[in-house]
Amino acid sequence: MARYLGIAAALAATGAFAITPEQMLSAPRRSTATPNPSGEVALFSLSEYSFENQTRSSAWQLLDVKTGEITDSGLDPSAVNEVVWLPGTDTGIIYINGTNDETPGGVTIWIGDIKKPSESKLVASLDAPFSGLRVANTSSGDLHFLVNSLAYPNGTAYNPESVPAPRHSGQLYENIYPRHWDKWLTKERYAVFGGALLANSSYGLAHTGLRNLLQGINFTVTRPESPVQPFGGSTDYDISADGSVFAFLSKATHLNKADFTASYIYLGPFDGSEVAVAFNGPDSEASAGGHKGASGSPTFSPDGSKLAYFQLDGDYYESDRAKLYVVDISTGYGGVGISNWKPLAPEWDRSVSSIHWAPDGESIFVSAEDYAITRAFNIPLSAEESFVPERLTNVTSVADFSVLPDSSLLVSASSIWTSRDFYVLKSDGTQNVLFSSTDVDEALAGLGQHTYEEFFYTGSLGIELHSLVVKPSNFVQNKTYPLAYIIHGGPQGSNGNVWSTRWNFQVWADQGYIVVAPNPTGSTGFGQYLTDAIEGEWGSYPYEDVVLGWEYVKDNLSFVDTDNGIVAGASYGGFMTNWIQGHDLGREFKAIVTHDGISNTLGAYTSEELWFIRHDFNGTIYDEGATYEKFNPFNHIANFSTPQFVVHNTLDYRLPESDGLGLFNVLQTKGIPSRFLNFPDENHHVLNVENSLFWHTEIFNWINHYSGIEGALDALAIGD
Ligand SMILES: *[C@@H]1O[C@H](CO)[C@@H](O)[C@H](O)[C@H]1NC(C)=O
Ligand SMILES: *[C@@H]1O[C@H](CO)[C@@H](O)[C@H](O)[C@H]1NC(C)=O
Ligand SMILES: *[C@@H]1O[C@H](CO)[C@@H](O)[C@H](O)[C@H]1NC(C)=O
Ligand SMILES: *[C@@H]1O[C@H](CO)[C@@H](O)[C@H](O)[C@H]1NC(C)=O
Ligand SMILES: *[C@@H]1O[C@H](CO)[C@@H](O)[C@H](O)[C@H]1NC(C)=O
Ligand SMILES: *[C@@H]1O[C@H](CO)[C@@H](O)[C@H](O)[C@H]1NC(C)=O
Ligand SMILES: *[C@@H]1O[C@H](CO)[C@@H](O)[C@H](O)[C@H]1NC(C)=O
Ligand SMILES: *[C@@H]1O[C@H](CO)[C@@H](O)[C@H](O)[C@H]1NC(C)=O
Ligand SMILES: *[C@@H]1O[C@H](CO)[C@@H](O)[C@H](O)[C@H]1NC(C)=O
Ligand SMILES: *[C@@H]1O[C@H](CO)[C@@H](O)[C@H](O)[C@H]1NC(C)=O
Ligand SMILES: *[C@@H]1O[C@H](CO)[C@@H](O)[C@H](O)[C@H]1NC(C)=O
Repeated sequence: MARYLGIAAALAATGAFAITPEQMLSAPRRSTATPNPSGEVALFSLSEYSFENQTRSSAWQLLDVKTGEITDSGLDPSAVNEVVWLPGTDTGIIYINGTNDETPGGVTIWIGDIKKPSESKLVASLDAPFSGLRVANTSSGDLHFLVNSLAYPNGTAYNPESVPAPRHSGQLYENIYPRHWDKWLTKERYAVFGGALLANSSYGLAHTGLRNLLQGINFTVTRPESPVQPFGGSTDYDISADGSVFAFLSKATHLNKADFTASYIYLGPFDGSEVAVAFNGPDSEASAGGHKGASGSPTFSPDGSKLAYFQLDGDYYESDRAKLYVVDISTGYGGVGISNWKPLAPEWDRSVSSIHWAPDGESIFVSAEDYAITRAFNIPLSAEESFVPERLTNVTSVADFSVLPDSSLLVSASSIWTSRDFYVLKSDGTQNVLFSSTDVDEALAGLGQHTYEEFFYTGSLGIELHSLVVKPSNFVQNKTYPLAYIIHGGPQGSNGNVWSTRWNFQVWADQGYIVVAPNPTGSTGFGQYLTDAIEGEWGSYPYEDVVLGWEYVKDNLSFVDTDNGIVAGASYGGFMTNWIQGHDLGREFKAIVTHDGISNTLGAYTSEELWFIRHDFNGTIYDEGATYEKFNPFNHIANFSTPQFVVHNTLDYRLPESDGLGLFNVLQTKGIPSRFLNFPDENHHVLNVENSLFWHTEIFNWINHYSGIEGALDALAIGD
């Protein structure tokens, strides 16, 4: 640690100390850590990119949960896609090897010991690219596991490498939702498969092979699919500890996928004796009580007697409060039954994300966004309706956590100043910090909490609104720095104290800005009222909040130069920058940056997430009283005059690139200095590291020119 402080101090003295886009993008990225059953060691993956060599290297590393010592696990990162600790052992592992010598495009399952990973044994050869391994040890010693893969309509797993090249590329549709996120839909859907590894034959795969657990479910409109795309993974399903029951998530089968968000939890017996059934679907007690929306995180209690999950109420709203529920599970008499369906702490005004049971099964740990920080909380099963859990964590944001056998938590966290912290949070509230990337990664040297501030101001609805402030690493008292005002996406989202490789506020600040990142109306983590209040109000309350926040900064933050500021935003933040361009606040900025944001709301029906615009614009595009026309940035083109940098990517199917091109063409025709940046191979996010470096370099070049930051390149030198 001292060594890096030395470097930081030396750099600070020259005034050069800062984190560059290249450093941020090439710094190691660490996954969350998963402890072994006894909680003594935890496994995580690390990956880092070399701009010098244009190569990415990765590793599977072991964290000693007592000392924080990190060692290489010896697992070959080029072969091992994912690893699970073998339940019931301390050092046993089961992993997916991404190659299969027998079936190109397939994968293999291996069992071994973390102390001698090179002696692992191949136990199963799978003929498709399965992933998302979940494992249970049964009383017989057989292992029951779940994996997922795309499957043909007949249920057979789909291996793209075994399919002959099609003779034409046409894709025909007769239902809405032909594409989503960055993929055109084909006939295949994701499915969860179950398999058994038999103890009596060195864990050989049972001759029955893998069973598609979604087979046999009847549907009227939408074929069942799990995990739910595009972001669903192995937390969309679970298997009970004794391997007898599985649960998975699928969108509602009687509703179409474009207009509705509703999804339900299915339960079934692992032995296949009954078809899986959704227990919180349309005919359930949950639905009768008005809880009809998207579900998530089905998680069995340690003894398998209960299942916890979350669900939203509205069937076409994606940012409703996610409330925690518990049901009792019973097996036998032909199938899996549920009883005692119960909401836990339903009046708590926060949305639950990850769910982890306490070892005694008497309480549930959850994570939830709370005042721009994702924190851990504990909710006892005996909680009253009005129960409000205490904050267990503070300052940094929880990425995920695991519950150790003594009920302490192994937390993987991040913040503006650290890409990954690992710490143990004991039941008495004390923390044992095991690791902080800022202490060891040279690219992050010198980052710290000293650049981070927050302020509150009164918003348009009379509510106290929160905003982050991030100063440059080499901040000098009594100097002023131009404002970089950053509007978040969603709009139901937040600017939070979290590390990001896409919008890293420290990297922006270290160009020589004060980053101010407000949480206006629509933001999450401050109570459902603020989130919901943006419905049908995209350009009203949030715009007024953004104006009030800017005025607060001008009036109260003496180190911010608001005369030379810029404003930037992506997604809804991109819409807001376009809205700002047409309104008075737009005249207060030297430049605007818009990433994949709506410029013409009347084009919104090119998106496939019709549920979203129907909710947020207060109706369909043909409903009277809907607000597409009212909050259309293109109605204010007459006032557009601030230089604007427009990014729009081709694979962003929810916000097609025509929106960005239309905006750029308007700016160009009006003679407003502007640039258009397109990545044909990126979706809503710029994920490729070389692309991201180009994105940062060109945007910073542009804004630094207009805000007058010294050393900026000539932004007008692009030619045609
Ligand atoms: C690039 O490759 C060279 C030669 O293999 C190696 O010496 C160097 O450390 C690598 N650089 C990075 C940043 O990995
Ligand atoms: C699985 O559980 C059985 C019964 O408790 C036990 O005998 C066996 O050792 C366990 N297997 C593993 C891999 O932990
Ligand atoms: C992965 O599988 C390949 C065969 O497909 C084998 O050669 C290799 O040793 C395996 N690696 C690991 C770490 O299991
Ligand atoms: C399912 O359909 C695929 C593609 O048509 C085919 O290759 C496969 O053999 C079928 N599986 C079964 C069990 O019929
Ligand atoms: C292992 O047990 C399974 C039933 O669980 C049985 O079908 C199989 O024949 C047994 N194999 C051996 C090698 O005993
Ligand atoms: C699905 O529908 C078929 C045909 O109506 C019926 O025979 C079958 O029992 C149904 N399956 C379930 C799980 O409801
Ligand atoms: C969290 O941190 C804030 C600011 O440092 C402090 O005011 C608050 O008391 C802390 N809360 C807990 C639960 O530690
Ligand atoms: C900043 O300015 C104030 C008042 O003008 C002065 O008292 C203070 O010493 C200055 N601080 C530095 C670090 O220059
Ligand atoms: C500046 O801060 C003061 C004190 O918090 C507050 O009363 C005032 O409204 C702020 N100014 C603006 C323009 O928000
Ligand atoms: C319009 O928005 C209001 C709240 O702003 C809501 O109560 C109403 O249901 C919405 N109407 C439609 C058609 O979405
Ligand atoms: C342009 O801005 C002026 C000044 O705020 C306003 O009066 C006018 O309505 C705006 N025009 C449009 C088309 O938004």
